[in-house]
Amino acid sequence: MGFETVACASTGNLANSVSAHAASAGMKCYVFIPGDLEAAKVLGNLIYRPNVIEIEGNYDDVNRLCSEIAGERHWAFVNINIRPYYAEGSKTLAFETVEQLGWRAPDQVVVPMASGSLLTKIWKGLKEFEKVGLLDSVSTKVNGAQAEGCSPIATAFRNGRDFFKPVKPDTIAKSLAIGNPADGYYALKTAAESHGAMDAVTDDEIVESIKLLAQTEGIFAETAGGVTIGVLRKLVKQGLIQKDEVTVAYITGNGLKTQEAVVDSVGRPTRIQPSLKHFTKTFGIEESP
Ligand SMILES: Cc1ncc(COP(=O)(O)O)c(C=O)c1O
Repeated sequence: MGFETVACASTGNLANSVSAHAASAGMKCYVFIPGDLEAAKVLGNLIYRPNVIEIEGNYDDVNRLCSEIAGERHWAFVNINIRPYYAEGSKTLAFETVEQLGWRAPDQVVVPMASGSLLTKIWKGLKEFEKVGLLDSVSTKVNGAQAEGCSPIATAFRNGRDFFKPVKPDTIAKSLAIGNPADGYYALKTAAESHGAMDAVTDDEIVESIKLLAQTEGIFAETAGGVTIGVLRKLVKQGLIQKDEVTVAYITGNGLKTQEAVVDSVGRPTRIQPSLKHFTKTFGIEESP
């Protein structure tokens, strides 16, 4: 397409990917992020040496500015002027799920929502596999998850509306903090069409859920993963997801990126002198088997 510069508006993760791929493709790169992101997400850009532009404002301010810049410069903004490529790429999450389940569609999926795009594309991916005959019939219920502090889509769903009201985000799930979600309308349509549901969880529930996933499955997720697991729990409690249903919860980000969210609630290591005496004093004598 003749682009020399690649760019994006991001809540953090997309910027990390765009920066990395621009580096390996040898392209010029500009990533625009809100001014309050976690340290690891900012570092995860800087290491690739793109132009990192921190906006004094939230994602919706970032997105508005980027739309204006996209109108002026011949840059590939991956989620603005070339958005279809970025969005269609998300179908991979459906394709890989089906493949890894042994060529069957799950009964239920739970998907974290920021703009709502990923959720719609997981549904589209499943339907395309049905269309080309790789799946017999798809009856997967597509469920959406948001943080209570930024839940325009889930709130619309809970109120039985097919349109959302934009909000000002206030949540530790910064990667999902989009107050005016571009694909919100389509996400609501997808949940309705697939007979799925939507719900939201508080910041405390997000932290609890991150710990639950880590301590039961050995997976350390970022706050978006906490949102997914928190909502999964809620849907199970409400009887909307049954224990015998094949359910896929999409864990879309690594916990090392959002350490700030959990660092105060996981305790500290036990520090001792490097001697058997100190170890035994702290942990006692092991009982014989
Ligand atoms: C970790 C993570 N999960 C899920 C999403 C959801 O993306 P969207 O609903 O905008 O497709 C994002 C978006 O930034 C994200 O960073």
